[in-house]
Amino acid sequence: MEVLRSSILGSQQLFPPLKLYSFKTRFSLSKLIPFSSSLSSSSSLSSLREDRGKFRSLIESFDPKTPLEEAFTPPSSWYTDPSFYALELEKVFYKGWQAVGYVEQVKSSHDFFTGRLGSVQFVICRDANGDLRAFHNVCRHHASLLASGCGQKSCFVCPYHAWTYGLDGRLLKATRISGIQKFNVHDYGLQPINVATLGPFVLINMDSSNTNSANENCKRVAEEWLGSCSEILSTNGVDLSLPHVARREYSINCNWKVFCDNYLDGGYHVPYAHAALASGLNLQTYSIDIFEKVSIQTCEGIQEGSKKDFDRLGSKAMYAFIYPNFMINRYGPWMDTNLVLPLGFDKCQVIFDYFLDCSLKDDKAFIERSLEESERVQMEDIILCEGVQKGLESPAYCSGRYAPTVEHAMRHFHCCLHQNLI
Ligand code: FES
Ligand SMILES: [Fe+2]
Repeated sequence: MEVLRSSILGSQQLFPPLKLYSFKTRFSLSKLIPFSSSLSSSSSLSSLREDRGKFRSLIESFDPKTPLEEAFTPPSSWYTDPSFYALELEKVFYKGWQAVGYVEQVKSSHDFFTGRLGSVQFVICRDANGDLRAFHNVCRHHASLLASGCGQKSCFVCPYHAWTYGLDGRLLKATRISGIQKFNVHDYGLQPINVATLGPFVLINMDSSNTNSANENCKRVAEEWLGSCSEILSTNGVDLSLPHVARREYSINCNWKVFCDNYLDGGYHVPYAHAALASGLNLQTYSIDIFEKVSIQTCEGIQEGSKKDFDRLGSKAMYAFIYPNFMINRYGPWMDTNLVLPLGFDKCQVIFDYFLDCSLKDDKAFIERSLEESERVQMEDIILCEGVQKGLESPAYCSGRYAPTVEHAMRHFHCCLHQNLI
């Protein structure tokens, strides 16, 4: 496990028999889908059918209809199988709107930042006209990554052979290609990705059926991303105008869902694993509300009279989970967001961005102490998550059970995923 620190402009950086399933091939499902001409032979098609059959069995081994009290959690293969991970990338992350960054990172013309979602390398930039753009960050010559990190640029020059692209994605210069035939410069611009902003968040959508580009309709994006929940979030104190003050990045040796599950256990682990955090919360007041693709957990802080001079959590904490991998947390003067990026079946990166009430944004001592406390909680969670991943990989474990009074949000997450995968 490693921790990276940076500012906002820093680098982006069910059952027991299921152990019988074994999908060890490492491939992307996109390479299985019949748009690839290489799959036209009958043997390829039959193996494709076979693979789909295996996936179907694996997905259907989780039953979303069983009542929570009797339900089993998804089988460990969902967390340990490389080909299941490839399926998730295709069906979950390469479709629909995905949070990738913040408007502040691309505030002015020529600002850009890069990132990765699964195997997709992307660059987000604001072109000379002020339009927000997103592209696959891959040179059209020999596939070199084009831009890296973040900052300001007037064009993207490939570090390999210096092909040069405008911030609007056009190929401006292809070096030393004299003699090339059947080459139209207009065919070799950067591959665009749909991009939109919602409040302070930058979202991308790699679904090719979603054909709009720069100016996505905010209302439609909000509906697609948050369902009926956008107003509920604002009434729970989500203030999209708070200034950004810090970023922390954690690389964790666990499947991305292990981190989400840990977040979604309704405070179950808090008294056992986060003693300091538990002392600031009245866990008896924990409540959970479930919406289409969002779940909201709330908990009151401890009574005013027993608070000390330092109060990071305030009178109420709200933890909103936006399927599949984004969390918005609001407590006291703070709002933080957690973006869980899958990096492999057993590895993920979590990016924490911290926003703070304007009145405190220059209070360095308060910020430092709050971040220290928050970081302690993250370190405690990382140890738990990495331990769970090891346990999931053990032959002793196949699937678990839900604690019915607290783990509804986790169950909802698993059901959303099941729905998404079928
Ligand atoms: S790979 Fe980019 S110019 Fe050759
Ligand atoms: Fe935790």
